[in-house]
Amino acid sequence: MDDRPRDETPSPAPPYYENPLPTPGTLPPRAWWGASDAARLTLNGSWAFRLAPTASGTGPGFTADDPAATAGWDRVTVPGHWVLQGHGAPAYTGVAYLFPVDPPRMPDENPTGDHRREFDLPGDWPADGETLLRFEGVDSCARVWLNGTELGTFQGSRLPHEFAVGPLLRRRGNVLAVRVHQWSAGSYLEDQDMWWLPGIFREVSLLHRPAGSPADHFVHAGYDHTTGEGTLRVECDVPGRVLVPELGLDLACGQEARAAVEPWSAEVPRLYAGELVTAGERIPLRIGFRTVGIEDGLLKVNGRRVLFRGVNRHEFHPETGRALDRETMRRDIVLMKQHNVNAVRTSHYPPHPAFLDLCDELGLWVIDECDLETHGFCWMPDWRGNPVADERWTPALVDRARRMVERDKNHPSVLVWSLGNECHAGRGLSAMAAWIRARDPARPVHYENDPEYPDSDIFSRMYAPHEEVERIGRREEEPLSDPERDAHRRSLPFLLVEYAHAMGNGPGGLADYQRLFETYERCQGGFVWEWIDHGLLTRTADGREYFGYGGDFGEGYHDGNFVCDGLLFPDRTPSPGLIEYKKVVEPVRITGDAAQGVTIRNGHDFAGTSHLAFTWAYEVEGRRIAAGDLAVPPLEPGHKARLPLPAAPADAPPGEAVWTVRACLRAGTAWAEAGHEVAWGQWPAAPAPAPAAPPGPRVAPRRDGGLITLGPAVFDAGRGRLRALGGLPLAEGPRLDVFRAPTDNDIGMHWEPGTQVSVLWERIGLHRVRHRTDEVRLTDEALTVRTRVAPDARDLALATTYRWTADEEGTLRLRVAVTPEGDWPCPLPRLGLRLGLPAAFGRVSWYGGGPGEAYPDTRAASRLGRYRATVEELQTPYVRPQENGARADVRWAELSAGEATLRIEADPEPFWLTARRWSSEQLDAAGHTVDLSPGEVVWVNLDHAQHGIGSQSCGPAPLPRHRLTAAPADFGLAFRLREGR
Ligand code: GAL
Repeated sequence: MDDRPRDETPSPAPPYYENPLPTPGTLPPRAWWGASDAARLTLNGSWAFRLAPTASGTGPGFTADDPAATAGWDRVTVPGHWVLQGHGAPAYTGVAYLFPVDPPRMPDENPTGDHRREFDLPGDWPADGETLLRFEGVDSCARVWLNGTELGTFQGSRLPHEFAVGPLLRRRGNVLAVRVHQWSAGSYLEDQDMWWLPGIFREVSLLHRPAGSPADHFVHAGYDHTTGEGTLRVECDVPGRVLVPELGLDLACGQEARAAVEPWSAEVPRLYAGELVTAGERIPLRIGFRTVGIEDGLLKVNGRRVLFRGVNRHEFHPETGRALDRETMRRDIVLMKQHNVNAVRTSHYPPHPAFLDLCDELGLWVIDECDLETHGFCWMPDWRGNPVADERWTPALVDRARRMVERDKNHPSVLVWSLGNECHAGRGLSAMAAWIRARDPARPVHYENDPEYPDSDIFSRMYAPHEEVERIGRREEEPLSDPERDAHRRSLPFLLVEYAHAMGNGPGGLADYQRLFETYERCQGGFVWEWIDHGLLTRTADGREYFGYGGDFGEGYHDGNFVCDGLLFPDRTPSPGLIEYKKVVEPVRITGDAAQGVTIRNGHDFAGTSHLAFTWAYEVEGRRIAAGDLAVPPLEPGHKARLPLPAAPADAPPGEAVWTVRACLRAGTAWAEAGHEVAWGQWPAAPAPAPAAPPGPRVAPRRDGGLITLGPAVFDAGRGRLRALGGLPLAEGPRLDVFRAPTDNDIGMHWEPGTQVSVLWERIGLHRVRHRTDEVRLTDEALTVRTRVAPDARDLALATTYRWTADEEGTLRLRVAVTPEGDWPCPLPRLGLRLGLPAAFGRVSWYGGGPGEAYPDTRAASRLGRYRATVEELQTPYVRPQENGARADVRWAELSAGEATLRIEADPEPFWLTARRWSSEQLDAAGHTVDLSPGEVVWVNLDHAQHGIGSQSCGPAPLPRHRLTAAPADFGLAFRLREGR
């Protein structure tokens, strides 16, 4: 191999980093196993490091024995990315290649990190056998030397590579040198929507291979649901025995055994401990018996249709990028299990192998996806140059498929192989599928991006709107022009392999999708895009932390915060989207009504309900009056039971009453403690109570110079605006507000301008409407203020009338009537009132929906109750600040400062409550959380209606029923100030 700089010696042969062909030198791929009795030595840790601007690296010297070769070098941690350790910078693009598209060539600027580590072998390192040097993942191309001898090169960032190094090793003073190029031919195959993060980001280790140890083994463990028997056969390239003591099995490699077993499933991840015993090595096996296949047009496991409640997971940590430790991997799975997620697509590359061990152990269905995406070719006419349609690349594609399948084949959790993501169509994909099918016929193959689905056993779509999913569910989708291809596609089960783009506030519409998945058996669920925001922990000059996104690291070209579209915030705090998803996909449905009691339906595919303890509670106005256990007979999957509830407590106080029934874990599991709530239902205990007693005798408004008083309230006489209530001066009296800081879903997709509702809002000027007072009228009964609320430069308006009344008890009531004028070309963001309170009003309690935020199409998890929070706690810290924090269905809210409390009551329709220390306009102007600082005012929004959230940042708009169309509206509220206890 030629290490000379290419500009000095132009050569017709491409250098290795621009050669798409898999290079000889690495060993054939094989299964990964976490532990055995063979010796291993980790080479993780601190390595000498220097970054060079071109592929020539630092020159040839760093491979030499002489420690002076790296004198004065920096150090980096392996596994890790050098751009997150102070060398160069991360960069984010969603689709675009960050280099000119001229496959397989790369520009001269090719940041290249030379890494070097010296090591000794442990004293007891065996002298016999072979030793392998293993790299679990290097982004994107490595060239490796050991003790001055070049071992070879490799590409394929998220795939393992091994070299045989035994004869080169010394007992002491080994020198391992690794040159890593950020860009290589492989980069054309790795255009996933994520940070470009070069480096040795997964482990490096030495593995001893004793004489007589296997090169590889393949565990075939099926389950026959008709007999309850498992079948086991372990292929191995050396003779050996397979022991499964719990099943009394002791069989030879290659032999098949049958035994009565408990099957493995994501719900009941039953693993049997076994061992593969060969002359040279004893390898622990974790065997899960399960059979997957497509039958009658459905994807079935162990004979049953399964429903995926899935997420797409990138590997991400806000400080270490795609270098993840075991704790973080486990944390991801624990959080998934706690939120009723049962499936993960490893978008868009095979994860760290230990993650799959954890999926086996804790129970998740896995779609294992190959490290492949060529999305950036979509901008060339007909995807010109696309590697999957260019045979020169086929060996590299098949090599990738092979490295994935061989590494991960022994995991029961892996149900489906996925060829990759967004590569459009091409023969290279067919070659991958053919190789996979020949090697592992026992698993279906998935690929989404070829509309004809020649290589996929699953019909799969991204971001399809609800009505398309429904058509597919009925098998009434638009036909393909080729009848044979159409018939094939129509016969396939359907997955929404990406849906519900969880960018910023949202995603909306989850519950509407779930209804379709639970109605049409062909629709076997979906995978939310995506699991976690990839915000990188960043600090301001004065040390305040925030999460950075595209453009924060000096990138010339970037895709902004499109990289922050997960159900978890970057620090793995669940976002409201995850809380909503948990409710929407709960595997047990609890419904009821006052007359008929409670219905419990077991929506698991395999598990019964005996692991759940059910309880009921009877609450009046959010206070628990009575509670108890609910005896629920064990329910088989798919079965339901209707049960009576106790009589409503005779001594219950008057007021709105609800039943709440909860299903919680009876005992602790590996992923949650006993008592963890899995599902709940809530419904009115009695028909809604009659509206509150009519207001007491009214007081009349009085004009008093420039002021008007009405009971406890003081208004300015010119504009009719409320100035003070009792002793409380308002920073701003309530007035109509229709603006919200656009969410990422309001901003929509810049490549599909029709989706950008916030652009219309801005064009119309909803963020800077004017209020004109047309009349301030006093009668014996009321103060009526007639206004016109309108943006500049338009003839659009909202004619708004405020009618204020007060009673002798000191309650101030407001009725607002709004009539739109002109042709409103867009939905309104919100419709309600905004008022400003002094900053001291920092404590909030309310009776209504909670505890978290909710919007019209994200409110499944909002539960009626009594809650309290500080204004700070009401905020949802989306990585890019935007509208957030509304609480739904509020019957009353109290905002307090010291001993003063402002009570706001629904009159009669419940309202949406939002309170924050900055205005919507300030929220809109902020680019990062650190741009927001508390002001002198607590801004409170009391909304009659909100526009839905939808998933338009990459998907459909809110469904029509969640759209807030400009239309005549009428709503009311009552205010009362309590001063002192
Ligand atoms: C999909 C793609 C994902 C991601 C998503 C938008 O088309 O497969 O990788 O880019 O869009 O966030």
